[in-house]
Amino acid sequence: MKGIILAGGKGTRLYPMTKVISKQLLPIYDKPMIYYPLSVLLLAGIKEILIISTEEDLPMYQKLLGDGSRLGISISYEVQKQPRGLAEAFIIGEKFIGDDNVCLVLGDNVFYGSTLQEKVVAASSLESGAIIFGSLVEDPTQFGVVEFDEDFNALSLEEKPTKPKSNWAVPGLYFYDNEVIEIAKTICPSARGELEITAVNNEYLKRKKLKIITLGRGIAWLDTGTAKGLSQAGAFVQTIQERQGYYISCIEEIAWRQGFIDDEQLFNLGRELQMTEYGKYIMSLVK
Ligand code: G1P
Repeated sequence: MKGIILAGGKGTRLYPMTKVISKQLLPIYDKPMIYYPLSVLLLAGIKEILIISTEEDLPMYQKLLGDGSRLGISISYEVQKQPRGLAEAFIIGEKFIGDDNVCLVLGDNVFYGSTLQEKVVAASSLESGAIIFGSLVEDPTQFGVVEFDEDFNALSLEEKPTKPKSNWAVPGLYFYDNEVIEIAKTICPSARGELEITAVNNEYLKRKKLKIITLGRGIAWLDTGTAKGLSQAGAFVQTIQERQGYYISCIEEIAWRQGFIDDEQLFNLGRELQMTEYGKYIMSLVK
């Protein structure tokens, strides 16, 4: 299974913060936002990753994460020239995906919870069709919304409905078989001129090949789309880290626990950051 992180867009809902900085590089407490979705791919055991961003912003992601070898993974990069929608990721990433299945995670989605890893590992073993997630939210109108029956069969999917049929929002984490490339090429742009991910999911629903996994109350899915959400996500990360002593989405730690890098490599990564609590934490893991 390959992984794509989509870190495009203009981030207009976060202006002026994102006037000159790509949204997915903004800090969530002590690390750049993109570390959080990247950590989800690493937890799923995905080692071949494509990052897609705008022409202007891509070099910054390259500077931050390089070719991934320091984490024992491979990271490549592609440009999305215009914000033509999330589903364009599969067209841009066609060569990268090759004959594989693929997981798409949005660069601004933050997940945390003890059962997260087992859920994404299960989803990454998908053989055919698609798996999406459902997360209960108070106000689903800003998200994709899924309605499903007691056996978790999806009944309907809508993008940002004014009258949602359920409170189950669809987070920006999706697992697909290889057919997603052809599907992305056939869907039509929405009223806002974008290839919507919900249109792709609706096609899988039509083919009766869409599974829903609920995240449940043990997993937090945090909103980073507004200044308020961003600040709350930062406070959440700080609170958990200070209370438990475990770091959330420390990509170096996850790469090490997954066996992608050894003790010495981990220690060296920590040493480069030893002027920070983050670096000290990484070094302390080896001792
Ligand atoms: C996108 C998707 C939406 C999904 C959301 C999750 O919306 O279109 O279905 O629920 O991501 O973050 P966007 O935030 O790009 O408008």
